[in-house]
Amino acid sequence: FGSLAAKVQRNPSFSTLNSDDISYFKEILGEKGVIEDEEWLATANTDWMHKYKGSSKLLLQPRSTEEVSQILKYCNSRCLAVVPQGGNTGLVGGSVPVFDEVIVNMSLMNNIISFDKVSGILVCEGGCILENLITFLDNQGFIMPLDLGAKGSCQIGGNVSTNAGGLRLVRYGSLHGNVLGLEVVLADGNVIDMLGTLRKDNTGYDLKHLFIGSEGSLGIVSKVSILTPPKLFSVNVAFLACSDYFSCQKLLMEAKRKLGEILSAFEFLDSKSLDLVLNHLDGVRNPLPPTLHKFYILIETTGSDEPYDRQKLEGFLLHAMEAGLISDGALAQDINQASSFWRIREGIPEALMKAGAVYKYDLSLPVEKMYDLVEEMRTRLSDSANVVGYGHLGDGNLHLNISTAQYDDGILTQIEPFVYEWTSKHRGSISAEHGLGLMKANEIFYSKPTATVSLMASIKKMLDPKGILNPYKVLPHSLSS
Ligand code: FAD
Ligand code: MLT
Ligand code: ZN
Repeated sequence: FGSLAAKVQRNPSFSTLNSDDISYFKEILGEKGVIEDEEWLATANTDWMHKYKGSSKLLLQPRSTEEVSQILKYCNSRCLAVVPQGGNTGLVGGSVPVFDEVIVNMSLMNNIISFDKVSGILVCEGGCILENLITFLDNQGFIMPLDLGAKGSCQIGGNVSTNAGGLRLVRYGSLHGNVLGLEVVLADGNVIDMLGTLRKDNTGYDLKHLFIGSEGSLGIVSKVSILTPPKLFSVNVAFLACSDYFSCQKLLMEAKRKLGEILSAFEFLDSKSLDLVLNHLDGVRNPLPPTLHKFYILIETTGSDEPYDRQKLEGFLLHAMEAGLISDGALAQDINQASSFWRIREGIPEALMKAGAVYKYDLSLPVEKMYDLVEEMRTRLSDSANVVGYGHLGDGNLHLNISTAQYDDGILTQIEPFVYEWTSKHRGSISAEHGLGLMKANEIFYSKPTATVSLMASIKKMLDPKGILNPYKVLPHSLSS
């Protein structure tokens, strides 16, 4: 792995921490908010995949916007580089330091500020864990418009900063639509109040969108206002098998048309992904008889009329079976079975981690082309790796993962730049939902024209002239220092 960090040079204009800095931080945050503990830092310096490791000597835990502002104002004046960190579940090396950047961890900013039952608008601090928000809303009869496998650890500020997509985007859309307002702290400590709670507000440039998906490179998200849909009680989940990729596509087209307003997820995995989950996760079993099917689809419907929705889904499945689109399938009979179907899909990243080293690619591609890449990669790598494909088929988002016993530069050169060139050739995106982080900062040109990247760099320069916020990430290294 070391090869990636070796390509990046520490920006010499950044200062190195000294004892006066630590004393100042203790003054503003108290002893408890200033963490120098080695074990704690070792965890915070390492990403979820154990692939990216920094060497920060300091983690700060602010409890309020004012404290975030004081931290950044000071870091900016001293030219100390900073990494904003949420739940540290990011998959592109964006949430951990590359060198000795100060980690600003948002965990203590976890208060819910308000919830309006009429509009469904939730306002909360950036450090709220997604699952806690889901539970809070459940008690109010609402849901979060996003859900993902990392919900137990990831924070809403992290979700906003990565513009996380997840499992229900096909129904509720992206955070660019659901986030109504943000409060952010800029690199110089200025607090920008864009925390609107209005559905409609056309008073000039809608600047909050700059921060959605900016991966901590433009500001720290301290508060979020988000539109939440009401909880509908009729939820059905089916786990289906398809014998070929063309049938998966046809099934998606049919599902959009025939399930229409009740479709809430359309996820896919290939048989190699299923095998990984069955082999590496305890208590997961295949709900279908162990015949070899090449593909599996998880369909979820959510509606307000149980008998009608169930009938609609059953009718759809019967039709799909008769048309030969699905070769087998199971419809969850209760909530436990529904969760066990979801566990299969949501467990893939964890199973991949248990299987060894993993090269992870998160691509937007035209649906009809998507699986060709998985097959081409298998041919390229032959027996040297296990190539798996899964993802959010309903959104045109493929997760191409290459699993090997250990990281090997020889394998990496077989994968990259081929995977990016292929994606670019098919006018896809090299990051559908995970962001660029450190992993893909230098690859941005595969998906964005030079003039657009230059404009991004100018915006970064304007908002963070010294480049202290999450350096070496998002923008290509040639433009970011
Ligand atoms: P972190 O990992 O801590 O940080 C991610 C980035 O955001 C970093 O660049 C960091 O600097 C920045 N950041 C964090 N908090 C803030 C803040 N308050 N202000 C400014 N910048 C901040 N992603 C998807 O899109 N869809 C999925 O389905 C999905 N599933 C996942 C499943 C698993 C098991 C895992 C491990 C990850 C998954 N992810 C998925 C990746 C996804 O990016 C994150 O899980 C999530 O959005 C990151 O939130 P976090 O709080 O952990 O942020
Ligand atoms: C998922 O959809 O499971 C996540 O984005 C994580 C991953 O890609 O592995
Ligand atoms: Zn995903």
